[in-house]
This record gives sequence, C-alpha cells and structure tokens, in this order.
Amino acid sequence: MALSKINPQQTDIWKKLTAHFEETKGTHLRTLFSSDANRAEKFTLQWNDFLFDYSKNRITDETMQLLLQLADEVNLKGAIDDYYAGGHINETEGRAVLHTALRAKKDDEVLVDGVNVMPEVYEVKEHIKEFTNAVISGELKGYTGKPFTDVVNIGIGGSDLGPAMVTEALKFYKNHLSVHFVSNVDGDHVHEILKNLDPETTLFVVVSKTFTTQETLSNATTIKKWFLKHGTQEDIAKHFAAVSTNSEKIAEFGIDAANVFPMWDWVGGRFSLWSAVGLTIALAVGYDNFNALLEGAHETDVHFKESDFSENIPVVMALLSVWYNNFYGAETEAIIPYAQYLSRFSAYLQQGIMESNGKSVDRAGNVVNYETGTIIWGEPGTNSQHAFFQLIHQGTKLIPTDFIGFKYSLHGDKDHHNKLMANYFAQTEALMNGKTKDEVVKELKEKDLTESEIDKLAPFKVFAGNKPTNTVLIDKLTPKSLGALIALYEHKIFVQGIIWNIFSYDQWGVELGKQLAGTILKDIENSEISDHDSSTLRLLQYFKK
Ligand code: F6P
Repeated sequence: MALSKINPQQTDIWKKLTAHFEETKGTHLRTLFSSDANRAEKFTLQWNDFLFDYSKNRITDETMQLLLQLADEVNLKGAIDDYYAGGHINETEGRAVLHTALRAKKDDEVLVDGVNVMPEVYEVKEHIKEFTNAVISGELKGYTGKPFTDVVNIGIGGSDLGPAMVTEALKFYKNHLSVHFVSNVDGDHVHEILKNLDPETTLFVVVSKTFTTQETLSNATTIKKWFLKHGTQEDIAKHFAAVSTNSEKIAEFGIDAANVFPMWDWVGGRFSLWSAVGLTIALAVGYDNFNALLEGAHETDVHFKESDFSENIPVVMALLSVWYNNFYGAETEAIIPYAQYLSRFSAYLQQGIMESNGKSVDRAGNVVNYETGTIIWGEPGTNSQHAFFQLIHQGTKLIPTDFIGFKYSLHGDKDHHNKLMANYFAQTEALMNGKTKDEVVKELKEKDLTESEIDKLAPFKVFAGNKPTNTVLIDKLTPKSLGALIALYEHKIFVQGIIWNIFSYDQWGVELGKQLAGTILKDIENSEISDHDSSTLRLLQYFKK
C-alpha cells in the first residue's frame, strides 16, 4: 500500500492549529507552570528506564489534543502499519524500509515482497557473531600468525557515522581492539591513520551499501596498495572484510567470500548500523553488547508500534517539533547530550534527520509551501554551555533543545556526576524561566551597585526565558538504552515525514554534487577544462596553476 498523500496544510486541523497558535503564542512558560500544578506530571512519559519530560514546551492541553488530531488526520496509524509490514514506503526507489526487521525477534515474520526475511537476518547475525568472536579471541589471525590488535572501518555517511558514533558511545564496554574510522576522500585522513598501523595485526572492514561510493572505494584501494607493500595478494583474504548489497563489486575488489556480510536494499544507509554495517561495533564491544543494542531498539519499535499516540515518545517528540517548525517558525533544533560518550550523537542524527526530511517536494510531486526538515546541531554539555549556549539563552532565535542525561555515570564518580547533572537540570530551568528585570535589579542591589549602574547594566542581564526544552532522563548509558534512544529518533523522523507529506527514505539531493565532482575531476586531471560558470572556471584555473 502506498502512503497517503495528504497536504497537512489543507487539513481542517491545520487551520485549527494556526488559530490556536495565534491565541497562545504570547503565553510564557512561567505562566503555564504557575497556573497548573500538575503540568510536569501531565506532560511526562515514563517508559522502561526512560523518563521523557516535555512539560517545558510552549504547549497546553489543547495544543497536544490538536497535534494528536493532526497525527490522526494524516493517517499516521496506517503509515506505521505499512512501515512495519514492508510496504514500499520508499516509493521513489521502490523499496521497503525495514531497519526494524534487523532488530526483530527470530520468530517474528517480516515479509518483503511476500518473503520472510528473518531467517536471512539471523543468518547474517550468526555470521557476525562467529566472525567477531574469532577476531576478539585471537583465533583468527593476520598473515604472519599474530592476533589482530586494530580494526579500520572504511565507509562514509551511514556506513561510517553509525558505527563511529556507537563505538564512541560504548567505549566503556570496549575490548582490547583499537578501532579507527577512515571516511573522508581527503588522503590526509587515510594516510594519517595508516601511519600508526601495523599491517600484520590490522583488520580492514570495507562498508558500503552500494560499493560504488567514491570516497570508500578510493580509501579501500589506497589501503589495499599499502597492505600489498607488506603482505601478498593471498594475504588480503585474512585482512579484509566487506559489508555491502553488491556482491559482484566486492568480488572484483578481491575480498574473500567468507568475510563478506550482505545487507539489503530495504535498509537505508543512515539506518543501517543495526545490520552488518555494525560489524565494527560488534568487533569493538563484542557480539553480546551489539545484540543488546539491537534489543533496545526493538523495545522502542514495539513501544512506537503499540502505544497510544498520546503516550508514544517518538510521536510526541515529532509533534512538538512540527509545532515549533511550522507554527513558531523555528528553523533549528539542538540536541545536547550530557554525556561525553555521546559526543558524536548530534553529528550522527544530522544525517538521520537532515538526509531524511530535507525535502521540498511532497509525496504527490508538488513543491511544498510549508517548512519541512529541521536543521540539527549540538555538542555535549557542559562543554556546549561554554560555547554556544549564550545564543540559545539570549539570542533572537527560538531553538527547541533536547537535553539527554543519565541518572548514573559509568565510572561512578558521584562528585563529577552530580555537578554534570546539576548543570543539565539548571539549564532547562533557566531556559524556561529566564530572569526578569525585577529579579536582575534585586540581584544588583544586593551587590551594592548604584541606581545608575543598575539602570545601565540591567537590560543586558535580563533573560527572556520561555525557551522550549525536552528532558530525556535515562537510568544509565548501556548498549540497550543507547539502542532504544537511537530508535526513538528514527521513529521521530518517520512521523515527521508522514506529517510533512514527504518521502523520508530517499536522498536524491546528494546526487548532483557527486555528478559534478565526476566532471570536475576530469577537468583537474586533464589538460583541458570543460565549460563552467566564470567563478568555477577561474577557481579551477587558479587551482591548476
Ligand atoms: O551520499 C549519501 C549516501 O548515499 C548516504 O545515504 C549513505 O549513507 C552514504 O552515501 C554511503 O553510501 P554507501 O554505503 O553506499 O557507500
């Protein structure tokens, strides 16, 4: 079944939301809190080891009711059923979208074009398990008989960001293997990493869904040449593994069939860390931890599929985001994890969210006349507080922000954790309440400033407040809770795409640049430069001189 093609702006509920926005936009969050003692309780969802407090948002009961009606009016329920049932919801590429199958239970049945894919999924999982166990235990050895010490993941986009983010996030659970990531076609990236590696003890994992990506093939080829300066063609079988849907190209590259891990076209690159694309994760933290990551994601899948929308965390996250994006005109959202281990989390979600919902043509093929995909950014707290929080507090832009934190730290240093979490709570409180002129004046009086000094300084010390935040408080950063957290955002992406009436699972927007780079590479390498605009032409001439 195809997804419905409902223009959200033409629904009755959109008109009601617009009117409601006009009525409520001037209300300060302070007022909303002081007029309802139950607000925090009402707008908090508790699920497994997650607490999701969305009370510090510019919403009332009526806002939520209207947004939930919007979800009904665009047939979100039907779309979710289609998503899980393997409908070709990636219509422009004619594909199902089933990263949920990668973390489903063995006995589940997930049909793609009438065929249950679960046996295949579990066959690959079994292969990942055997391979990673053998590498970690030292049973699999390099060409001179030494056990592996280093693993290099060669991939880009979804074939890099997911494994890189997760291995960093789960560093606490890591084994002895050192993992490295080569992604950029910038030769300085690969050469810098090779500089410190020993070919005898390094395993290379080439990850590319298509196995045609310029960056990945260039890096893999450079690495192969480097390796062949030390080992032989035959030794490649011991040192290279590949993850791809393209078995032909892998064979051409010369990777041994025993080290090939298939994936499927119904797994989008930016949702692929759950597949064999996560091989580097499994190597770094062991198969059991990798599997726990998948189990966590599966629990979110069940929560998303089965909970009422009013109690469904990804649905609520998505509706709030639509509220700010389409009614308040907020262009960006910040994601701030209060966990250094999650330092790559926002970068990872940038691809997931912006490659998915950065679209301006609706599902009927018309150019949209409303805003779609939000711009995502962020860095861990507390570092970000000392970098860009000034703008969130006192700038002119509205930036809804997700605060992600954990009740317990992993190393158990209570002193540090209490300080970290004090900042986490303080920021959402400060962003919500702000500081009024009266409060500033009182404070300055207490510091014995004169009237004229106070008059001069007070305007700069006022905080308007009323800045929306979500607080996601999780017990502990574990493979399972991380899997659950990532999947919450994945489903948020889905819900937003359905509401905006766009196709979230293609990425045609990255093609044009790739195409032109092909032509320009010839211009750089050949003596003649082909036809370009005057700026590009002059730049190329200058570069080639
Ligand atoms: O250029 C974008 C993209 O297609 C992403 O969607 C994908 O994650 C990345 O390139 C890498 O693609 P591949 O895994 O096929 O090398």
